[in-house]
Amino acid sequence: MKPESLPRIHKLPPLLSNQIAAGEVIERPASIVKELMENSLDAGAGTIEIQIERGGTRIIRVQDDGIGIHPEDLRLAIESHATSKLHTPEDLLAIRTLGFRGEALSSIAAVARVSIQSKAIDANVAWSILYDPLTGDTKTGPAAHPQGATVTVGNLFYNVPARKKFLRSERTEFLHILETVKRLALSVWDTTIRLQHDGKSCLHCRGQEDPARRVRELLGKGFVENAVRVDRRSDAFRLWGWLGNENAHSSQVERQYLYFNNRIIRDRKLSHAIRTAYGETIPTGRYPQYLLYLEMDPALADVNVHPAKHEVRFRETREVHDFVHGCVKQALSKSTVSNSRLENSILPARGDYACPTPGESAQVREAVLHYRKDTPLSITETRGGLSTDEPRMLLALTDRRLIVECREGVLLLDIAGARRFLARTRLERLAENEVLQSRPLLVPISLGINRELPSSEDDFHELCRRFGLQLNFSGPRTLTLRTIPLILEDTDLQDLIDDILESLRSHPVTDSKAQASEMRSILARHAGAPGFQFHSDSLRTLLQQLRQAGSDLTSAGHAGVWRKLDPRLLDEIIGDAL
Ligand SMILES: Nc1ncnc2c1ncn2[C@@H]1O[C@H](COP(=O)(O)OP(=O)(O)OP(=O)(O)O)[C@@H](O)[C@H]1O
Ligand SMILES: [Mg+2]
Repeated sequence: MKPESLPRIHKLPPLLSNQIAAGEVIERPASIVKELMENSLDAGAGTIEIQIERGGTRIIRVQDDGIGIHPEDLRLAIESHATSKLHTPEDLLAIRTLGFRGEALSSIAAVARVSIQSKAIDANVAWSILYDPLTGDTKTGPAAHPQGATVTVGNLFYNVPARKKFLRSERTEFLHILETVKRLALSVWDTTIRLQHDGKSCLHCRGQEDPARRVRELLGKGFVENAVRVDRRSDAFRLWGWLGNENAHSSQVERQYLYFNNRIIRDRKLSHAIRTAYGETIPTGRYPQYLLYLEMDPALADVNVHPAKHEVRFRETREVHDFVHGCVKQALSKSTVSNSRLENSILPARGDYACPTPGESAQVREAVLHYRKDTPLSITETRGGLSTDEPRMLLALTDRRLIVECREGVLLLDIAGARRFLARTRLERLAENEVLQSRPLLVPISLGINRELPSSEDDFHELCRRFGLQLNFSGPRTLTLRTIPLILEDTDLQDLIDDILESLRSHPVTDSKAQASEMRSILARHAGAPGFQFHSDSLRTLLQQLRQAGSDLTSAGHAGVWRKLDPRLLDEIIGDAL
């Protein structure tokens, strides 16, 4: 619509500009609780008490015993762009506090009634301030308050009726507050946190040294019991925490806690990196549960991305993603034997098979397969209502050898050997002009070139492309890999590239046949890399692929791939004492 007259530009009055800022930061009462608790944590609080009335619409009061606010700064604390946490533009490049924008209290004060009481560290007297947003007036005076600060926020959205309409029931708003408090409580261990709603105590976390205890208290024993611990470091990053196992998944994104340097963050790419690391261990459409802490030098990330400060821009996005993905994948694959214990626990308790006991781990090297002569396993037999058509892992002897029951009988299966066999078969069948199926990497990977480059880069590109590796040279000593062949799951890509470059040196560029045959054997070797995660779904696929590849699983065995464990063989091994 065309304006009737030329509009003139004017500065917005502070209340209006603060209300606009509040629109981005203060969505609901829980947003206020988050900002106030973050201020308390930045102030070094040992105890934080939160009192809520009527879902936070009437009163939100957060009291702490932190360093407090200098009496002369009380007025400034409520003004916009006023902070004690930043001084120079350089400070913005490595933020170590949860707050830094100097906007939270002014935004809150623009949509609710705010008062602060505080006694600063080393001060003799406490002071209070009451702010009137309509006139901008403040009332200050001495107060009775121990060291620390109490911020009270009343009548939320009293002056923004449109916003008030969007609030849900008091109970729902309180549940959001409870979740916020839990999330913050999971970011610190040594702070005591108490939460009351309408005078009733709803949460009490005592400050303690052991993170696992707080996790158990807040997320429940079940979460910890169904989780795998992860703690890995690279030169620049550390990732630690808990990864829900294959039994701990939900239909909604819940119980996905991700922290960056103790700040709760949301990052779609990182969530995706974690989800893909879970792969097929959890069914499609379900979400894994996790509590993860990513730590690094704050200079490697920018948290000044979103007004609510829950987004981060990493300086080395790809490295961070690959690191997180790799850590999760490795931790989960290491735990697959303990997961097999859970699978076993759903088998009928007939004592037919030796199941690892809770104390046993991936290192179970020997186990006795008890079999009962009177109940030989057959293809058609069904037990406990489960058809043996559905392959089942009976026991993981090591992290690569399994005893499985499938329609062909009971097999001792070597996962790495089977995957190498499949890769070899696929590669042997690759027609001359055919391109090996590949999948794109979520984030292209940069790899070092530690060997001499082949004299013809074009031929090298073409050869790699045919075998599912799309790459380009991104620097004199680096290349960027964009796709990898489907037959390679967990191989170390740097090793793979080193191997390829090394072996191509010994074959003349012109001998494309010899080069292709080298590529086949390198890929087949890498296809059996350790770290592949096996679980019931991938087991079924693996067995199907073996059958399709022409392997006769009913025969006695195939060196390095499987061995059939029929009663006669067991008699031979164990002997018949009777
Ligand atoms: N509980 C508290 N204890 C001590 N100082 C506090 C407390 N709450 C607020 N302050 C002081 O008031 C200032 C303004 O707080 P405010 O939350 O508005 O901004 P901030 O925390 O600096 O940045 P952000 O807007 O990102 O939260 C803080 O910088 C801090 O100095
Ligand atoms: Mg703040």
